[in-house]
Amino acid sequence: MSGALIPRHASRPSRVFPIALPIGLAVTALGALWALTDVPPVADAVVPPAPAVAAQLPSIDVATVAATDPCSEPTVIDALAAGDDEGTIAAFGGGAAFREAVVAGSAPCISLTDPSRQWVVVNKERGLTPSDYEPAGLVEAPIQMTTASTLIDEDAATALGDMASALSAAGMGELGMNNSYRSYRLQVTNYTGQVAEVGQDAADRGSARPGFSEHQTGFAVDVVACSSGCGGIDAFASTSESDWVAAHAWEHGFIVRYPAGATGTTGYEPEPWHLRYVGPELAAAYHGGGFDTLEEFFGLPAAPDYAH
Ligand code: DAL
Ligand code: ZN
Repeated sequence: MSGALIPRHASRPSRVFPIALPIGLAVTALGALWALTDVPPVADAVVPPAPAVAAQLPSIDVATVAATDPCSEPTVIDALAAGDDEGTIAAFGGGAAFREAVVAGSAPCISLTDPSRQWVVVNKERGLTPSDYEPAGLVEAPIQMTTASTLIDEDAATALGDMASALSAAGMGELGMNNSYRSYRLQVTNYTGQVAEVGQDAADRGSARPGFSEHQTGFAVDVVACSSGCGGIDAFASTSESDWVAAHAWEHGFIVRYPAGATGTTGYEPEPWHLRYVGPELAAAYHGGGFDTLEEFFGLPAAPDYAH
C-alpha cells in the first residue's frame, strides 16, 4: 500500500488536459496557418484574439467535468490497481475531494468495506469480510511494545515511528504501544475474557466482538505513555503523551477513533489510546473538517449496537 505514483498534494492536471488540448491545438493550428501564408509582418496587423478562437469551441465547465466520474480517471484506476491508497486519494484531488466523492456516491470504485484499504470503516454494523480476515505485509512496530502483539500495517508503522519521534522531540514524553494487529483468534480471547470479567454489556462498550475490531486490519494502534516505565492503556488519558496525541496524531495520519462524546455513534466508551491510521490526506481532511467519527466523515449511519 505504500508507493507514490502521484505526489501527495498533486492537483489534477490530467483532468484539465483533455479540455486544454483542443484549445491548444486550435491555437497552434491557427499559428501554423498564419506562418504558412508567408505574409511579411505589418506593424499594425490585427492578430485574432485568443478568446475569439476559444469561443468557437463548445463551452465546457472544467470543475464539473473534474467532479463527475473520478473512477474513470486513469490516475485513479492505476493507483487503485497498484494498491496505492495514498496515490488513489491524491488522484481524487486530496482527502477532502475523496471524502466528498465517496459521500456523494460518485466514487463506486472506492469500497469502505475493503479491509486492506486505509479508508475501510469497521464498526458494530460493519464487520470484517471475511470475519477472519488476515492482512498481508504486516511489519514489526518501530516503537517500544508492552505486549507480544508487535505487528502493524507497513505504512502505519512508518507513520507511528515518525509520530513517536515528534512527540519526544516536543518534550511530551515517550510513546509506546500495547497492541496493533490482533488476529481474529486473539480478539476471541480478549473479548471472551472481557465478557467473563465484566459481563457482556460492559464488554461490548470496550471490546469489539471477533470479526468487528479495527485491530484485525493492522491499521489500529493502542498507544501507551512510557516516560517513566510504560503504563497501561487505562492510564493513558491523564498523560502528556495523551494531550499531544489528541492534538497532533492527525499530522501523522492517525485519528482518535473513539473520542469522548461519540459513544452514541461508535458504541464504545472513550478510548484516547486507540488510534486509527487513515493516512495523511484523510487525517488532514478529518481534522480540517472538524469530524469526530469516521461514520460522520463518510456519511455512514451511527453504529452504537450490533444487529444481533
Ligand atoms: N477496543 C476496541 C473497540 C477493539 O476491541 O477493537
Ligand atoms: Zn484499540
